[in-house]
Amino acid sequence: MNKYNDFTIAEYFRRQGVEIGENNRIEIRSFGTEPYLIRVGNHCTIGPNVSFITHDGGVWVFSEQIPSIQKFAPIKIMDNCFIGLGAMILGGVTIGPNSIVGAGSVVTKDVPPNSVVAGNPARVVSTIEEYRKKAVEMWEMQKPRGYFGSSQEGGKYSPEDIQKMKFKHLGVLEKHLKNLFRVRKSEGIGCG
Ligand SMILES: CC(C)(COP(=O)(O)OP(=O)(O)OC[C@H]1O[C@@H](n2cnc3c(N)ncnc32)[C@H](O)[C@@H]1OP(=O)(O)O)[C@@H](O)C(=O)NCCC(=O)NCCS
Repeated sequence: MNKYNDFTIAEYFRRQGVEIGENNRIEIRSFGTEPYLIRVGNHCTIGPNVSFITHDGGVWVFSEQIPSIQKFAPIKIMDNCFIGLGAMILGGVTIGPNSIVGAGSVVTKDVPPNSVVAGNPARVVSTIEEYRKKAVEMWEMQKPRGYFGSSQEGGKYSPEDIQKMKFKHLGVLEKHLKNLFRVRKSEGIGCG
């Protein structure tokens, strides 16, 4: 495991049977018990602690009568999706392209393309375009001057290159965010 990082571990999962595209960032180290029932497209993030449930263990309650009983369903993540930290994706679900699954969500039904879903069960909370508009506006306010140096917005960088640039500018960002969100002593924090 140590020889892989989030950008190269696709190779390891492919050997387990996950059908997986290119340019992904994969922050989990297991795709569950039936990796060969899972497809991930190109340019997706699978956040930390995301679970893929491709079998329904509930049939256990019939196993005294039908010892062999099991129940399975595949999962598909289409291109350019972001699956937030700790989300759980149930079998039979397809996540449409350009979609986001919120942190901690339980996804029980297909996610339409170009949408943001969240909650348990996950519901559409916005379109990707609405989310984009908000996120870009916020970044305009939060971005430190000179962040990422001379790299051009709209330029084509691999996810790994972007990660490297983030590491390189970690100090600049930390300083900037501390200033931006500093709680003044006079405001207090109200911890008693
Ligand atoms: C889903 C997400 C993308 C939505 O972002 P957003 O559009 O800025 O969200 P908002 O704060 O405007 O919330 C919109 C609504 O969705 C709800 N919501 C947002 N995120 C939610 C979540 N993870 N679970 C449940 N509900 C959520 C909000 O409560 C709000 O509901 P309301 O309209 O009833 O008040 C974001 O909240 C999220 O979960 N991002 C992933 C974070 C993550 O995994 N980080 C780790 C990175 S590896």
